[in-house]
Amino acid sequence: MSTRLAFDSVSVTYGHGSTSFTAVDGVDLAVEPGEILGLVGESGSGKSTLARAAVGLTEPSSGRIALGETEISNARGAALRERRRVQMIFQDPQSCFNPRRTIGQSLDEALQAAHRREGTALPKQRARRDEIANLLRAVALPADAAERMPAQLSGGQRQRIAVARAIAAKPSVILADEITSALDVSVQGAVLNLLKGLQRELGFSVLFISHNLAVVRIVCDRVAVMRHGRLIEVGETIEVMESPQQEYTRQLIAAVPTL
Ligand SMILES: Nc1ncnc2c1ncn2[C@@H]1O[C@H](COP(=O)(O)OP(=O)(O)OP(=O)(O)O)[C@@H](O)[C@H]1O
Ligand SMILES: [Mg+2]
Repeated sequence: MSTRLAFDSVSVTYGHGSTSFTAVDGVDLAVEPGEILGLVGESGSGKSTLARAAVGLTEPSSGRIALGETEISNARGAALRERRRVQMIFQDPQSCFNPRRTIGQSLDEALQAAHRREGTALPKQRARRDEIANLLRAVALPADAAERMPAQLSGGQRQRIAVARAIAAKPSVILADEITSALDVSVQGAVLNLLKGLQRELGFSVLFISHNLAVVRIVCDRVAVMRHGRLIEVGETIEVMESPQQEYTRQLIAAVPTL
């Protein structure tokens, strides 16, 4: 189910000429099949930009991003469909749902897109409704959540729906960008456990972007550290946390309240 997502010398520059700004600068990094890779670094270090480049929300100015053998940066045609196997979940799920569509309609759209990509026949509406009910069950929401509008859900519920929609796409990799930071502390753990449980069950890999190093320590197999657009350190979580190679990493860890 999972395929390697590789960033190869990826740079992303915003703007042109004298006002241009290089937000990501020559990053080499791979999310290995089935792993949860943490991505940390101070605000503005380029974490979201790197993730956005993988799903085509921004174009790399140089370098290449590949899912397995398929280049998904500057993707066209089949590569564009393949890129949908990389799904991104954002900090604020409100903004990524069509406010005029029910949750069921949004999930149905994601299911249909997945069937188109895989070239499989689209199941009848009744079967799709069952699939939607299964998706909702997978994220521990009642089946009648399908009838609701995004605005009628709590932040935590919406983030569960965002997870369900990502799963509907039969993802190989999920890019989770600060997915719990807008949530109440009391529901953060539940959303993380949900993602981790689905990751174990379905086998996708995760790029887990977070400012919360205490959470990264618990959730991630490996961790990568960015600073000023560059990747400065990457390794097994335990090793990076216990014996960071870079002074900057050490400071990031030191800034975490007692674990
Ligand atoms: N659309 C844009 N146009 C111009 N500059 C941008 C744009 N988006 C981001 N940047 C700049 O690129 C840099 C990296 O931003 P990015 O959002 O990738 O950082 P980040 O590591 O995700 O930060 P945070 O932890 O605050 O989310 C920042 O300096 C930001 O101001
Ligand atoms: Mg960000």
